[in-house]
Amino acid sequence: MSKQILVLAGDGIGPEIVSEAVKVLRALHDEGAIDVTLQEGLVGGAAYDALGDPLPEETLTAARDADAVLLGAVGGPQWEPLHISKRPEKGLLGLRAGLGLFANLRPAILYPQLAGASTLKPEVVSGLDLMIVRELTGGIYFGQPRGVETLPSGERRGFNTLVYTESEVERICRVAFDIAMKRGKRVCSVDKANVLECTEMWREVATATARDYPEIELSHLYVDNAAMQLVRAPKQFDVMVTTNMFGDILSDCAAMLTGSIGMLPSASLNAHGQGMYEPIHGSAPDIAGRGVANPLATILSVAMMLRYSLDAAGAAMRIEAAVSRVLDQGLRTADILSEGMREVGTAEMGDAVVAAL
Ligand code: NAD
Ligand code: IPM
Ligand code: MN
Repeated sequence: MSKQILVLAGDGIGPEIVSEAVKVLRALHDEGAIDVTLQEGLVGGAAYDALGDPLPEETLTAARDADAVLLGAVGGPQWEPLHISKRPEKGLLGLRAGLGLFANLRPAILYPQLAGASTLKPEVVSGLDLMIVRELTGGIYFGQPRGVETLPSGERRGFNTLVYTESEVERICRVAFDIAMKRGKRVCSVDKANVLECTEMWREVATATARDYPEIELSHLYVDNAAMQLVRAPKQFDVMVTTNMFGDILSDCAAMLTGSIGMLPSASLNAHGQGMYEPIHGSAPDIAGRGVANPLATILSVAMMLRYSLDAAGAAMRIEAAVSRVLDQGLRTADILSEGMREVGTAEMGDAVVAAL
């Protein structure tokens, strides 16, 4: 039976990079490797402009009914003045919460051809294969109370709340441990247990949950040290598991180890095997509309979709191999360009991946 894919291009470079990912999906469909039906929807600033809502009810319903969602990126300076409830980012957060996508997998893998594209020394990053497991529907992003209030003095006071329940911590740790069991069996849990009670509990729950996984070697780091270690010696890590906000920050940091933030895909999964797939980067307003954005993170997100939601691991591996072949051919978007390589635009990169499938 045909799998239903909801395609949400979003804002900025979103439509440019999603077009290339859709080319790859269609090519695999047309040759019979997968059977997908694509439906388009609105999210983010595009949805706000059309319907006055960054997450229209019809988009959420379509996402719930789909087997998987492919998302580009949301946001941009033109929507920053809006009330936070109407901002594009609320659309993305609403999808994550609405679908219960609590487990965000962000693999940072260095393609050997890009060892020279990283700002770090090749020997520091070559062979890097790290999985960041980010909790995605809790923590300070969703905690109550939140807001800005005006004190009697007239001064304003802003506040957000970091909240986790034990079951929220346990389920994301189980995801990390299950993934690690299929990899190097090492998990580093990242917290700020020395300062924040909530993450002191996180550490206790991670430790208790690990008792069900005797083969897993669990370690703990404070987030400041973890950020430093990621840049100092990233290959010490196999799987990292952490809170919503720490995972957001550490994954952008890890992206640079792979050469560019334009290389990092992600999968956001719920308890029922449904998933949303998106690059970890944003809408890149500084380069939007110029046809120069790197589409590989989005294309690699399609590979994750095939693996995690469409039961098509073979096709997923073909996409990953095609990306590797295109890099072998010396094709580079501007963000990963290095000496002797040929600079290509977004569409040319997408076409090259399709040709290399
Ligand atoms: P960003 O990730 O959009 O861009 C950061 C830098 O990386 C920019 O210089 C950009 O040009 C570059 N970059 C990002 N993706 C690239 C790609 N595929 N190819 C080449 N270069 C790329 O982060 P930002 O500038 O802080 O945020 C811009 C907007 O995107 C904001 O509105 C933010 O809220 C939103 N955002 C959305 C998502 C998402 O939709 N998942 C993620 C992050 C940020
Ligand atoms: C990401 C983004 C989002 C986040 C924003 C746009 C809400 O930075 O997907 O990493 O913080 O989760
Ligand atoms: Mn982010």
